[in-house]
Order: sequence, then C-alpha cells, then structure tokens
Amino acid sequence: MASPISLGILISGSGTNLQAIIDAIEQGELTAAIRVVVSNRSDAYGLTRARRQGLPAVVLLHKDFSSREAFETELIKTLQDYHVELVVLAGFMRLFSPFFIRTFPQRIMNIHPALLPAFPGTHAQRQALERGVRISGATVHFVDEEIDHGPIIVQAAVPVYPDDSEESLSARILTQEHRIYPQAIQLFAEGRLEIRHDKVIVHNEARFFAATLRSPESA
Ligand code: GRF
Repeated sequence: MASPISLGILISGSGTNLQAIIDAIEQGELTAAIRVVVSNRSDAYGLTRARRQGLPAVVLLHKDFSSREAFETELIKTLQDYHVELVVLAGFMRLFSPFFIRTFPQRIMNIHPALLPAFPGTHAQRQALERGVRISGATVHFVDEEIDHGPIIVQAAVPVYPDDSEESLSARILTQEHRIYPQAIQLFAEGRLEIRHDKVIVHNEARFFAATLRSPESA
C-alpha cells in the first residue's frame, strides 16, 4: 500500500474536480491527503467545498502582488509550508512562469478538456465544436513550460454529437475528468509514473489499461 501523497490543489472556479478528488480519497480509491487548496479568486465555489471539508483554503489574488514573480513566490511558499509533494491544477486559470514550473519539476499535474495535443488553450470545447471533430475528451498531463503541454498521463474520449452545444459537450467531458484525475494522481502516488523522453511510462499498465480505456460509445 502506497503512503498518502500530500497534495496542493489550485483552483479558480467551481471546483468539481477538487470535489472528485475529495470523494476518491474518502472512498479509499486515492491514497492522498489534500494539505491545502489555493484559489486566485475569492469567489471560487471550490473554496466553499474545501472549507466544508475542513481543508485549509487560501486565497491569493494576483492583483495584490506587484509582479507575476511576487505572486508565484508567495504561492510557492504556501505550497512548501504545507509540505506539498504534488501540485494539482484543477481549473486554475492562470499561467505560470518557468520559475514556478522549475520549483516543482515533474510534480505539477493539469487537466485539460480536450484530447491534447488537440485544442490547447482556452475554450477547448468550443474549438472542438468549431472544427467538427467527432471525438473529444479530457487529458491529464504533467505541466511543462508550454501551455497545455507536457507528458500525457491519462486520457478519456467522449463522442461529439451534431446537436451538441458548448455546455452539453463540456458536461460530458467533465464527467470523464472526474473519473480520470483521481486515477492519474493515484498512479503518481503509487510511484508508477516515469517520464522518459517526454513520454509517460505507466508501470504495470496492463492492469490499469482495461480499467481506464473507454470507447466513446460508452460515455
Ligand atoms: C475543467 O473543465 C478543467 O478541465 C478546466 O476547467 C474546468 C474546471 O472545472 N481546466 P472545475 O472547477 O473543476 O469544476
């Protein structure tokens, strides 16, 4: 049994992915402990979820800082004060400088609502609809210095229907996000992720693969 890994979760909004991680820990599916939740918005509903759970919830508003580096320095200090081992970006709408990324090498995960490398950036679901793709999905990846880029850990696919709106597609993808984010973190907690030549090797993947592979029809 792996020992619980210490998470710092960064949010900006509703925090449904945060909730999925909380639930997975409570259900014994994720061997992790959330040490701190940080939001760069004071009105993020995810803060309420964190406090309801008795978790330390910190608000750091970037406008209170003179520069990006000053903001990130304070954020790094907060994460280190709580002995965070893995930084989990869960709807955190702020770009990081290399300074932040290099402080947590291969220890920052992000979830993106598209099958990367397709549709990085904002409004990924809208981009998918505009391009008329038949399949989209969600990607959990390690964060590197490019936007929505870095070694891919887990993906899940969903169908895109002709009558989909941005909302309906987002909801279908979000359901899969809630499933794969805890799984990706659990793989990390178990020490099963190795990055080799910018690719993630999942050790003992045979056991894991069947559990995570979803054909779009079943979404
Ligand atoms: C998710 O779709 C995530 O992929 C994107 O922002 C959304 C956050 O949702 N980066 P929530 O705050 O976890 O509900």
